[in-house]
Amino acid sequence: MIFSKRTGLKGTLTIPGDKSISHRSIMLGSLADGITEVHGFLNGADCISSMNCFREMGVTIDHNGDTVIIHGKGLHGLQAPKETLDVGNSGTTTRLMSGILAAQNFKSRVIGDASICRRPMKRIITPLSLMGADIVSENGNDCAPLLITGKPLHGIHYDSPVASAQVKSCILLAGLYAAGETSVTEPYVSRNHTELMFDAFGVDIKTSGTTAIVKPADKLYGQKIMIPGDISSAAYFIAAGLITPDSCITIKNVGINNTRDGILEVVKMMGGTITYDRLDQPGEPAADITVQTSDLKGCVIEGSLIPKLIDEIPIIAIMACFAKGQTVIKDAQELKVKESNRIDVMVQNLSAMGADITATDDGMIIHGGKPLHGAVIDSHLDHRIAMSFAIAGLNADGDTEILGSDCVNISYPTFYQDLAGLR
Ligand code: S3P
Repeated sequence: MIFSKRTGLKGTLTIPGDKSISHRSIMLGSLADGITEVHGFLNGADCISSMNCFREMGVTIDHNGDTVIIHGKGLHGLQAPKETLDVGNSGTTTRLMSGILAAQNFKSRVIGDASICRRPMKRIITPLSLMGADIVSENGNDCAPLLITGKPLHGIHYDSPVASAQVKSCILLAGLYAAGETSVTEPYVSRNHTELMFDAFGVDIKTSGTTAIVKPADKLYGQKIMIPGDISSAAYFIAAGLITPDSCITIKNVGINNTRDGILEVVKMMGGTITYDRLDQPGEPAADITVQTSDLKGCVIEGSLIPKLIDEIPIIAIMACFAKGQTVIKDAQELKVKESNRIDVMVQNLSAMGADITATDDGMIIHGGKPLHGAVIDSHLDHRIAMSFAIAGLNADGDTEILGSDCVNISYPTFYQDLAGLR
């Protein structure tokens, strides 16, 4: 797909549902007693992978547009999958589902695509093994394929070396089945959708600072779940509105959970013009967000802010190229183990467009203000890279060609149509 220079991006759009909440709705809905009704479900390939895995374990799931009805099987009602469970490109499915599989009375094998088979799974193998799980990496490289033989588990306290909601959620899901209490402490708080949804489904979950504590559950109660738009998807339009000349974009119903709203803090630090209209509706907090073309300035992004915007760093790096002065992103080593190595891939592609960007061990440094020119961009089949460079391409001289642009299907299948809809 090819992008060229635009001005005057104007309009209002509603972005698809939150990816993290959509995954969790399938998992908790499957383990609950009764019906779980989900509205605003994200029809991205990753969430469909979660859906198909749980269908493979005997769960009936009706799917119509962004409405999903899950006929819960109860905590002990999953059936042994006849086939290997294929998670596609989804790290969230792999890690969260493994926590559930570790406690079932059957064996399972979990596979995924080439990217998944490179991503680190030791981070879940270690704590699950401490809980008594039998989970091994088939090729002995601490990556998928994973072979999981369900076992009785016991609760642990785990000090996680990484602030990762996937690791935390994996352990908490296993904790539903464990004897005794299970708790996880992280270096910084990561997204808390699992904790919020546990509470809604009747699980005894408590949080204190950077620790989450779950008690084993007898039963989860099917719920109605309203999923707001994904702030990680909204981020591309927030950036587009701020950096593209003569623009004004309103994005409706964006989830603004305070463990996910780091991009909004960055916009404030960069001096962007942004307004919020908070919505009064059930479910996680949401707002309509409006952005306008702004003179941005560089900033420092680090520490506890990183987990709150980890998936938005590629598009923040694009914004930084249009900001005056230096932007430093640090404490973000996790970027190296996402769908691609997002430090290397951002530096390689932005350098090709003429940006002043340097990789560091734990992030990147960008000196804004150098005009970007079109280039051939390798997305490395990473959805967030493809979407970030589409926005960069709208603000670069000449043509920007994105290779592998279809990978946006992972989290935002209608991204290019929505972008083209802004006039
Ligand atoms: C996610 C957590 C984050 C994020 C991913 C979704 C989740 O990963 O990058 O896109 O839904 O829990 P980590 O927990 O590995 O940081």
